Parts: sequence; structure tokens; C-alpha cells
Amino acid sequence: MITEKELELDFIKAIKDLIELDYDAIAAYEAAIDRLEKEETKNALQDFKKDHEKHVEELSSFIKSKNENPPTGPSFKSVLTKGKVILANIVGDMTILKAMRANEIDTTHAYERINNCPNIPEEISDFLKQGFEDERRHLAWLEKNIF
Ligand SMILES: [Fe+2]
Repeated sequence: MITEKELELDFIKAIKDLIELDYDAIAAYEAAIDRLEKEETKNALQDFKKDHEKHVEELSSFIKSKNENPPTGPSFKSVLTKGKVILANIVGDMTILKAMRANEIDTTHAYERINNCPNIPEEISDFLKQGFEDERRHLAWLEKNIF
């Protein structure tokens, strides 16, 4: 039998993991934007990076409202396993976008999963839905712009 308290703690842990994933996406976007050549592509990715920054901000204030400390950067593990753009040191706009697509598939799944958690507190439920929409939009843009 899982208690309410245990569910709440599981949910807080899941949100903390999500914050780390958003930080990882921000780092990957920074690396990608630096390397891209096409101005139009850079601008689109700047907007996506801002969405992830907004996610970090909103999710972190939720964690603080629960008297917990939010993560302040990507997890060591996530940098190693998912910072594909950073670590591969790749060149070429299409190759960079393909690496970002891999990252966005991860974040889209993570936001889909969190929206399926039981007992999502009401104060954060709209934001989590919005976050999932953001991720689907990022992924759809990448799909459309990869040839
Ligand atoms: Fe995204």
C-alpha cells in the first residue's frame, strides 16, 4: 500500500529529475547554437532554449514551495549519456539538428511520463501540460527541418 506521502515524495523526485533534464537540454542547445551556421536555425533553437529555461524556473519554484532544494544544473550522469551534442563535437547543421532531435525525443518522453503520474498537484498540472506541448513543438520543428 503506497501512502499519499510516498506518492508526494516520488513526484518531487520525478520533478527534480525533470529539472536536470531541462538543464541538460539548455546545455545542449547552447552548444548547438554556437556551432550552427544558418541564422534562421539558430533563432529557432534560441526560442527552444528559452522554453527549457522557463521550465527550469517554474519547476524549481514548485520544488521550493515544497521546502526542497531544486537541482542547480544537469546531473553528472545526464551530461555523460545525453549531452550528445556537447560530447560528440560534431559539425554540420543537419548533424547537429539530428543530435538535438535525439535530446528532444528524451525530453518529450519525460514530459509525457510526468503527465501520467498519479496525484499531480493542481498548482503544477497546467504547467506540466504546457511543458509537454512545448516539447512536442520542439520535436516537430526538428523533424520538419531535418532532411
Ligand atoms: Fe525541448
